[in-house]
Amino acid sequence: MIGEGLAALPVDEKFEPNEKLKETWKFSVDNPEAFWAEQAKQLDWFKSWDGVLEWENKKARWFNGGKLNASHNCVDRHVATWRKNKVAYIWEGEPGDKRVITYAELYREVNKFASVLKDLGVKKGTFVAMYMPMIPELPIAMLACARLGAPFTQVYSGFSVGALAERTRHTEAEVIVTADGVFRRGKVIDLKGVVDKAADQCPSVRKVVTVERTKHGVEMNPEKDIWYHDAIAGAKERYVAPMPVDASHILYVLYTSGTTAKPKGVQVCTGGYLTYTCSTLRWAFDVKEEDVWWCFADIGWVTGHSYIVFAPLALGLTNIMYEGAPDHPDPGRTWRMIEENEITKFYTSPTLLRLLMKYGDDIPAKSDLSSLEVLGTVGEPINPEVWRWYYKVIGKERCPISDTWWQTETGGFMISPAPGIQLAPLKAGSATFPMPGIDPVVVNENGDPVPMGVKGYLIIRKPWPGMLMTLYKDDERYLDYYWNRYPKAAGDRFYTGDYAVQDKDGYYWLLGRSDDVLKVAGHRIGTIELEDVLVSHPSVAEASVVGKADPIKMEVPVCCVVLKMGYEPLPELAEELKLHVRKVIGPVATPAAIHFVGNVPKTRSGKIMRRVIKAIVDGQELGDTTTLEDQAAVEEVKRVVEASRAGSI
Ligand code: WTA
Repeated sequence: MIGEGLAALPVDEKFEPNEKLKETWKFSVDNPEAFWAEQAKQLDWFKSWDGVLEWENKKARWFNGGKLNASHNCVDRHVATWRKNKVAYIWEGEPGDKRVITYAELYREVNKFASVLKDLGVKKGTFVAMYMPMIPELPIAMLACARLGAPFTQVYSGFSVGALAERTRHTEAEVIVTADGVFRRGKVIDLKGVVDKAADQCPSVRKVVTVERTKHGVEMNPEKDIWYHDAIAGAKERYVAPMPVDASHILYVLYTSGTTAKPKGVQVCTGGYLTYTCSTLRWAFDVKEEDVWWCFADIGWVTGHSYIVFAPLALGLTNIMYEGAPDHPDPGRTWRMIEENEITKFYTSPTLLRLLMKYGDDIPAKSDLSSLEVLGTVGEPINPEVWRWYYKVIGKERCPISDTWWQTETGGFMISPAPGIQLAPLKAGSATFPMPGIDPVVVNENGDPVPMGVKGYLIIRKPWPGMLMTLYKDDERYLDYYWNRYPKAAGDRFYTGDYAVQDKDGYYWLLGRSDDVLKVAGHRIGTIELEDVLVSHPSVAEASVVGKADPIKMEVPVCCVVLKMGYEPLPELAEELKLHVRKVIGPVATPAAIHFVGNVPKTRSGKIMRRVIKAIVDGQELGDTTTLEDQAAVEEVKRVVEASRAGSI
């Protein structure tokens, strides 16, 4: 029962390893409709579906004809039972303030805010944008929108004006919900100022609702601005009936970086998504009624949408929600919170673990972590040494680690250990096996499956209920990127953009992105998006961005920049360019280095050789450079990067 190269968990000797897991999986892929119809029964439906899956032109419509409401599933159905007084959220602010919100209170707040939105003219189909920190009003606003059938788009609060404005414009949102600010590492970060600037660029925005969090004094425009607390106090209705929507009604659009300068608006449905996120949360974390679930992520990303808001609430769980930094005011914060709240299931990113690991084992040793039962990670491949640390130092070799591989586009976990079904022996750094209903395969450039042990592109062969419906307002890009990538391959194959390898035991190992998308501290950032922003600066003629390996953040953006005539490659200009990126995209995208060069290495056909530049910044072998147009450009990048490494620039 021991996985290759590591101690796996002791598994009950009585059962055959993986028998149940294999059987469940096999049944699910052989009978997807019967399987998923059974899963959908965990939700409340106002009207049952006519068909389980309609699959046309690479678009899945799950549970067609079925009607439901996400807000009803997340709150109303619980307040009708004993769960009424169960805690939905234990929220902790960074300064240490706390709020405990029961399902009954959540229900009241969601209804009141739905009434407010309704009064502002929000109805089924009206988009609402959110630029919110991690405060309870964020899930409340999401559920209030869902109640009205109004799709929302949440923009991560680490993004800046340009990113917020672009997303708000693209969805033509009529209302923005925000907060005055947020506490981060003891400082106040202003959010309302960013919203004001963005709203000025978005003619569709009629109103801005602001939650008072930091009270640092923000400007309120009497025509556009409303305080959240005033609006709630004046809410006309105490109950707003949840709007029954079609199973394929848009629940939200979440933008994520892709391989072009324009972010992709991942469009998510209601019925399939809720079914999928609930099932996967049960399978990967074996969640139970009495659990205290802490998904330590930001709701601005998909992890928070699916596993801080929709799935745990639909399942009636008690959630922890935390506003601030994991190591503030001291490195023990996260572990103390686990002890104080007796967390049973803890889920976070390798970046956060690497950050906390560097403080040493004495810090977690100060907290009693014995309540923990299952641990999880997401967002990047987890390094085996970090996995082992998590397993030993945090989980005390008692807790399985669910390394969940998935994406914004997939809605929920795709490949992950499944202690909720049966725990297979674990291997440090492998996401193990596909979730039920998921049929992955590793292929080569031609779309042909590669043998076990060979690295290739990960694709998914069957539709699943959590999958995106399309890219908002961009069917063509949806088809091009995800489905038409391997025209020669037979059948329907969803391209994930990741490299993977299956080992001889059938375990999947995820090996990072195979396209031009970086993972910086778990955040997806498109290299071309960054290049576009750099080129928008008056001094820049051309830019090429690659990810440089980083011990904590996994990778950080490094930029080679060709200046226009008349501009000097001065350190001040490099700083200005970094600031420019921060301003347009946000602090998450800040370049770690700007290298000024005369030319960027390109192929003869004019494509930037990012692979070569990446090898240079990572200090690795360059590999095949025969298609390069100009060897001198490579030499120059090498010289500049090495000089900066030596500290002479
Ligand atoms: C990466 C986050 C390895 C992967 C939920 C994917 C992972 C991208 C894992 C999606 C994991 C996510 N192991 N890599 N367990 N989980 N990734 O859309 O490259 O922000 O394509 O969704 O994160 O990032 P996204």
